[in-house]
Amino acid sequence: MLLMLSTWAEVEAYLRRSTGIIVPIGSTEQHGPNGLIGTDTICPETIAGVLAARDGVLMAPSISLGVAQFNLAFPGTVSVRAKTLIAVIEDTVASLVRHGFRHIYFLNGHGGNIAPVRAAFQDIYAVWSYDRAGEEAPVRCRLRSWWELPNVDRMRRELYGSWEGMHVTPSEVAIAQHARPDHIKRHASSEPRAVTAQFLRDHAGDNHDDAVQHRRSFPDGRIGSNPDLAMPEHGARLVAAAVDDLAADYAAFVAEQ
Ligand code: NI
Repeated sequence: MLLMLSTWAEVEAYLRRSTGIIVPIGSTEQHGPNGLIGTDTICPETIAGVLAARDGVLMAPSISLGVAQFNLAFPGTVSVRAKTLIAVIEDTVASLVRHGFRHIYFLNGHGGNIAPVRAAFQDIYAVWSYDRAGEEAPVRCRLRSWWELPNVDRMRRELYGSWEGMHVTPSEVAIAQHARPDHIKRHASSEPRAVTAQFLRDHAGDNHDDAVQHRRSFPDGRIGSNPDLAMPEHGARLVAAAVDDLAADYAAFVAEQ
């Protein structure tokens, strides 16, 4: 069930049977030589969209701008600041809570969103913790990145090993190829270049520096990955695994008191 294709009366009826909703959140940023700029939004939207159609879970429109200042030296990237994303998350949750939603599940496709979205959750809960002593916050929020769901995580490591890398991962490119088969780009990339485990730790969650430095370090946009390994057939399998993982994780979340 898609919020964008529902009437307010249908949403009112939905709220009588469920207080949960899934909000895909991504980014609009360069994805290397063969990845679409919308990759980080297409991936969670595709996975959540299958669950919304299959199980009748309500899916909100995607938040498609993320924190991606480090990619602004690549044409096409559109970034919001961390404080802007925090405000968008706060206002999104406040809107949904007003209607009676109590379990807001953000399915994420972009590492740079993780820190600001978690910060937003803290500030949402803080309204009750500071100002409303004795009152419990009426809402629970969860952020889950699709690649950390257990079966899809195992599958992407089996398919690509260390060439999964950090950015322009073959798994995300494969999912986008599956989702948008008319827009598969074939590009003879230069040799892929690995990054160290230390680099991956230091820069987890897209903890990168400024845009000029970032493009100088990663001239074609890939970070430690080999997206030429991506195939749309892989994408279909990754989506199927992710949907089952998501169904279980979402069901457990909405069952929480
Ligand atoms: Ni990405």
